[in-house]
Amino acid sequence: MKEIKIGLLGFGTIGAGVVKLLTKNSALLEEKLGARLSLKKIADLDITTDRGVSVEPGVLTTNVDEVLCDPEISIVIELIGGYEPARSFVLKAIANGKHIITANKALLAVHGEEIYAAAAQKGVEILFEAAVGGGIPVLSAIKGNMAGNNFSTVLGILNGTCNYILSKMTQDGVDFAEVLQTAQELGYAEADPTFDVEGIDTAHKLCLLLSLCFGTRVDLKDISTEGISSISAVDINFARDFGYKIKLLAIGKRDGERIEARVHPTMIPVNYPLADVNGVFNAIRLTGDFVGPVMFYGRGAGMEPTASAVIGDVVDIARNMLAGISRRSAPLGYLDDRVKKLTI
Ligand code: HSE
Repeated sequence: MKEIKIGLLGFGTIGAGVVKLLTKNSALLEEKLGARLSLKKIADLDITTDRGVSVEPGVLTTNVDEVLCDPEISIVIELIGGYEPARSFVLKAIANGKHIITANKALLAVHGEEIYAAAAQKGVEILFEAAVGGGIPVLSAIKGNMAGNNFSTVLGILNGTCNYILSKMTQDGVDFAEVLQTAQELGYAEADPTFDVEGIDTAHKLCLLLSLCFGTRVDLKDISTEGISSISAVDINFARDFGYKIKLLAIGKRDGERIEARVHPTMIPVNYPLADVNGVFNAIRLTGDFVGPVMFYGRGAGMEPTASAVIGDVVDIARNMLAGISRRSAPLGYLDDRVKKLTI
């Protein structure tokens, strides 16, 4: 049986989830692919802490080049997060001909063009379903089944940590700091949780959605961004008294050659579907000119849902490799010659 070898960068919560899924569902994956996915190397600075999953002897390494430079490894999964060293590692992996899967929205929102250009030149794939909406397959839908549409709006709840915090504050009257700590313990928050609570993570995800939906590039600094750190119990109680819930929304709209992009806490009437999205769940509402409105809903963060999206990308690339397709074209919004110039 054919074997596709994978290298993993970063053995945190999501990395452990990837190992867990590959172990638990290995027979299923083998059956679906007709090939074996094998995790050859995992690189992390800390290879001694117990992650609650078992790894074959010799798989863990502190030497990143054992992933980036191993000629047998054809797919590299980047789960380090943040800008550097993730960017340098991904560029080196691409230069060595590896396909890339990443959950790193910060990296792609800021360095997406550079990474796509390098991948196009080298003829490798970049897939990043786990970067937006955790386990929700929204990016695949935009690029795939909904590709025939002109999109006019994309909006939603894109940060599980913030939604968890706001839901707990609303339902249980718990204090902001206390809930943030629980969200961190549950593995929802970013390494730097200010990215979550100040709306930056949501803005990163909105950048990716705008690129895919509208085929344009949006600079992070052009997205008006406000987080939830100043939302208090008083705000939540007032909203409830008037029949609203407070949610952190990402909003993107296209009107001809202009787009609007913003992230901020929003009062949602309690009878709207988005008001019922609670806890770590995310929801994304897209409007296409032919399909009309479509809503996606599911777990937006955490070990297992995010690992599900990562492995979906692995299977996607593996299928192409097995079919002898080396690389598909980059989505709109990522390569210079195909970027729509829209005014924000
Ligand atoms: N910190 C992110 C969130 C993780 O809470 O949504 C998933 O992207």
